[in-house]
Amino acid sequence: MKITVVGGGYVGITTSVALASSGHTVHIVEINKAKVNQLNKGKLPFYEDGVEEKLRWFLTSGQLSIHHQLEDCINESDAVFIAVGTPSLADGSADLTAVDAVAEQIGSYTERDLVVVTKSTVPVGSGEKINQLIRQKLSERGVDLMVDTVSNPEFLREGKALYDALHPDRIVIGTSSDRARHIMKAVYHDLHCPVIYTTIENAEMIKYASNAFLAMKISYVNELARLCERTNTNVQHVAEGIGLDKRIGSLFLNAGIGYGGSCFPKDVKALEAIARQQGLTMHLLEATMRINETQTEWFVNKLQAVLHNLGGKKIALLGLSFKPDTDDIREAASLKIIHLLTQRNASISVYDPQAMENVKNLHPQLYYASSSYDALKNADAALLVTEWEEFKHMDWEKAKMNMKQPIVMDGRNALSPSVMKKLGFYYDGVGLND
Ligand code: UGA
Repeated sequence: MKITVVGGGYVGITTSVALASSGHTVHIVEINKAKVNQLNKGKLPFYEDGVEEKLRWFLTSGQLSIHHQLEDCINESDAVFIAVGTPSLADGSADLTAVDAVAEQIGSYTERDLVVVTKSTVPVGSGEKINQLIRQKLSERGVDLMVDTVSNPEFLREGKALYDALHPDRIVIGTSSDRARHIMKAVYHDLHCPVIYTTIENAEMIKYASNAFLAMKISYVNELARLCERTNTNVQHVAEGIGLDKRIGSLFLNAGIGYGGSCFPKDVKALEAIARQQGLTMHLLEATMRINETQTEWFVNKLQAVLHNLGGKKIALLGLSFKPDTDDIREAASLKIIHLLTQRNASISVYDPQAMENVKNLHPQLYYASSSYDALKNADAALLVTEWEEFKHMDWEKAKMNMKQPIVMDGRNALSPSVMKKLGFYYDGVGLND
């Protein structure tokens, strides 16, 4: 099949590369000219394992091409995927400006029957609006074409996006059109997983409900961690014990300093905003957000209790990205911690294998270390913020020799408490008790 994907971000490009891997010919449309030039050189505007190599491969083979304008490729396509951003507005609801603009362009330029597939995370009812915007443009042009709309949310994790795109747990296809269902079957012909056919609205809700549920699971275990500290219980053992119940499941029960990234914070807020617009209060979502917002401060307070006063103390942050294997710092716990430590007059050194440049732009005053060992030199305490593999496997004995005080606060419960204590560290994590 021939497919156009609008949006050269991580969802758009990963989806395009996965579609090309399934044998389809893919045109990517990106509004930002600098990004088009970069992509045409085979360079990704973000870090995502394995995607750049595949992008180059498909660009060279001609199976994938990059365009600046939709009109250059729309009429060579059987389906158009919308994969543009839907950032948060001030009230928490999703900003659909980019999605609406793509829908209008589709209506303005298509000369053939099409299936329009929304990958962007959009509120319930958006599919219908996209449909109307396309039809309005078609009727202004006086053309009568068959344009069917589909909601096909993505469940890709950053850092594992290509794997997730090629090995999904499920595919959700929301549409009322048999023709669109048929075409979507052909799009995903080689993926073996359950496929749910449902309405557009249900598909839109499934995406928000999934992300909000995962965020809720994290906030639940984080709140439990606070209680474990008071009750001489260990949240890791408790999580293991509850997670083996198949009805609960063991994933996303790692206590830490909270969830971040471009999706969970935005999507929980957006779902809460959808409910508010309907006159409903989503108490669980409100609590999920509140726990996440206060988790970093709770952790920094623990550090302060150990050091008595943070003023003038040197604190080393290991990890800046919102999770390992990405350079993405959107809504990262590191940024909240930098803010809190700055307010409390600590001096801050940082190290991250990928995300330093992104933070440097926001906080040029910090010390950007050349390695984790360099960050820890003369530090009064180390805060492990992101659980990169290299922090788990570093030589902590060597690191300790350079530190002013051997204090490690592990915000991701990534290190072994017994090993760290044996090495002579004061070690504390989130909700741990021996
Ligand atoms: C998330 C979802 O996992 C994807 O399924 C979804 O497609 C994506 O959002 C999206 O909507 O596009 P992502 O934001 O890449 O993916 O990150 P996750 O791996 O889900 O992690 C989110 C945050 O939760 C991270 O800050 C991570 O450190 C934190 N987390 C995760 C925990 O604190 N504890 C856990 O047990 C798991």
